[in-house]
Amino acid sequence: MDLFEYQARDMFEKHGVPVLAGATATTPEEARAAAEQIGPKSGGVTVVKAQVKTGGRGKAGGVKVAKSAEEAEQLAGQILGMDIKGHTVGTVMIAQGARIAEEYYFSILLDRANRSYLAMCSVEGGMDIEQLAEERPEALAKVAVDPNVGIDEAKAQEIVDAAGFDAETAAKVAPVLQTLWTVYRDEDATLVEVNPLVKTEDGEIIALDGKVTLDGNAGFRHPDHEALEDKGAADPLEAAAKEKDLNYVKLDGSVGIIGNGAGLVMSTLDVVAYAGEEFGGQKPANFLDIGGGASAEVMANGLHIILSDPQVKSVFVNVFGGITACDAVANGIVGALDALGDEEDRPLVVRLDGNNVEEGRRILEERSHPLVTIEPTMDGAARRAAELAAN
Ligand SMILES: Nc1ncnc2c1ncn2[C@@H]1O[C@H](COP(=O)(O)OP(=O)(O)OP(=O)(O)O)[C@@H](O)[C@H]1O
Ligand SMILES: [Mg+2]
Repeated sequence: MDLFEYQARDMFEKHGVPVLAGATATTPEEARAAAEQIGPKSGGVTVVKAQVKTGGRGKAGGVKVAKSAEEAEQLAGQILGMDIKGHTVGTVMIAQGARIAEEYYFSILLDRANRSYLAMCSVEGGMDIEQLAEERPEALAKVAVDPNVGIDEAKAQEIVDAAGFDAETAAKVAPVLQTLWTVYRDEDATLVEVNPLVKTEDGEIIALDGKVTLDGNAGFRHPDHEALEDKGAADPLEAAAKEKDLNYVKLDGSVGIIGNGAGLVMSTLDVVAYAGEEFGGQKPANFLDIGGGASAEVMANGLHIILSDPQVKSVFVNVFGGITACDAVANGIVGALDALGDEEDRPLVVRLDGNNVEEGRRILEERSHPLVTIEPTMDGAARRAAELAAN
């Protein structure tokens, strides 16, 4: 889960990372009130910042300096409703203005390829960091971080040395990097990025921007993370699936997919996309793993979610019976179809194999539901489902 900048700011503050005052607003009037509160801390100057989960806000005109509360109100009026790379601005943050002497870059991320973490740091931070990384990669220091050790004093020193800070600045930056590491570790993040990390004219080091991605798999350890979710932005089908504890991801195609086991479902997506080429480019409509031990009820919930997607033209149920025997799956399909009633007219292609397959197929054949086709192989079933979606 990606956080908004203001959420990252609050999280930084909680862990002791130096940040400036900030408050959110969803109307120009609220922005004015926030600026009246915050402005006096910095000579009346605030910065109005679009809160969208994408980069390049500044370049898109979504970050503007206001010299008064009136101006903050006016700028908020311009920025609210703005479209930044397909994200509509619904909230702005009114941030205390900083008098910036220098802008640096720092991030910690999960380095999957090396099974480790990676810290990146540059004394030339700011809005052109992407360009810097491309044109002069040597100006962006990359330092591996051992997950068991993290960024301790020695590692922080190694990072500031690699980035080329002068000794005086390095001594101030290093402890901030250690604190940012505690955010990364204690919140189970997969990304903590600060661009810019600034030195003010008074020589203070402050995180002026924050991008944080939290690891959803660690959500059970962080009951407080749920409140950070942007419920309004979630795909309604994904939200409904989540409520039923289903592992569902909405995709763009026309063939609904249900399978058991993430690996089987992933390969089912591939096989359907491949088979679909022959039928005008039919593609999978979703990922849905009903897991091992899936009951008839889970099958029914899964089918219901998939058929709630109007883009779905056919459904491919691909189950390999292991812990869940095929007869239970077959009963689930039959029960789900009965529950859906006569309204439903989209065809279902079922491929069952594994534990108790004969009994499973027998149940489906005996019911001989007009919408159900049984196919013996995965490839055959994928082809049939794609063909049905095309017609
Ligand atoms: N509180 C602030 N006070 C003064 N200047 C600021 C403040 N916040 C941001 N700025 C200036 O605006 C620039 C852009 O801000 P910020 O980094 O938040 O947005 P961005 O980098 O364009 O967005 P993104 O990180 O999404 O690409 C900063 O590099 C900094 O120069
Ligand atoms: Mg930035």
